[in-house]
Amino acid sequence: MTTDEPFVDIPTDVPTSARIYAWNLGGKDNFEIDRQFALRNGPAFPETVDITRQNRLFLYRAVRYLAVEAGIRQFVDLGCGLPTENNVHQVAQRFAPDARVVYVDVDPIVAVHARALLADDDSTAFVTADMRDQEAIIEHPKFRRLIDLDEPVAVLFLSVGHHLPDADDPRRVLRAVIDRAPVNSHLVFTQVAYLNAERGAAMTELMNSAGIPWQTRSPAEIDALLDGFEPVAPGLGDVKEWRPDPDQPPLAPVPAELADYVGASERRKELIEYGGVLRKAD
Ligand SMILES: C[S@@+](CC[C@H](N)C(=O)[O-])C[C@H]1O[C@@H](n2cnc3c(N)ncnc32)[C@H](O)[C@@H]1O
Repeated sequence: MTTDEPFVDIPTDVPTSARIYAWNLGGKDNFEIDRQFALRNGPAFPETVDITRQNRLFLYRAVRYLAVEAGIRQFVDLGCGLPTENNVHQVAQRFAPDARVVYVDVDPIVAVHARALLADDDSTAFVTADMRDQEAIIEHPKFRRLIDLDEPVAVLFLSVGHHLPDADDPRRVLRAVIDRAPVNSHLVFTQVAYLNAERGAAMTELMNSAGIPWQTRSPAEIDALLDGFEPVAPGLGDVKEWRPDPDQPPLAPVPAELADYVGASERRKELIEYGGVLRKAD
């Protein structure tokens, strides 16, 4: 694993998506401002803890599928988040030791922890970049060293679709790498989706007002964003229903402060983590 940032300035006066998300997973790399944001908004959006964790469990199953069943050996993980257990390269290399992974994130704290916590490994690299700037990522020397666009590649946008509002032309962002790659390449996409439009709009407003670019979408809007690809069975849907595996490795425990929210997604099915695995077909 290599990184390229000798020094970074970590903002502690605004919450960040990477740190809030990682706290829901039981991570320790967060600040008071992140915890306060999550606690203040927990009552309005109690499903967040469950759907964050369902997304991370889906990541394991999706990467395992790609390595074992789809034969993918190179992965680009955009908006990879803070390292935790079962990061993409660890899952991929458990099932395919020759797998290569390029991680990308825009949050400087991710770069710091990627350097400190992820394995130092010639087959893995971290690039600090804005995923909307796909040209810079594709031209980056680390990307060019590890990713061969003549071979099938998996491009992961896991729980980052909501960070790509329509104004940022998400269709272009999602397709930039895969359009250059051959058939049998795969796209993995998830984001927060609403089944209740009013609550979806409220979440969009809340996150944008906190300085986190966000667009909660309906399942139909996400299906439209992903048209042209072949969904891998069982197709696009609530990620907790994508090939569930009760024997997969568990996540770290939920922080005590968030424990009351566990199970909230069963009581109130209005916000879900929606997406799936898609194949580039002929
Ligand atoms: C909710 S976390 C998801 C982490 C990981 N992909 C997962 O599924 O476990 C979203 C991540 O996307 C990153 N992110 C948000 N906007 C981004 C952008 N424009 N470019 C790169 N990364 C971005 C955040 O910093 C954060 O780490």
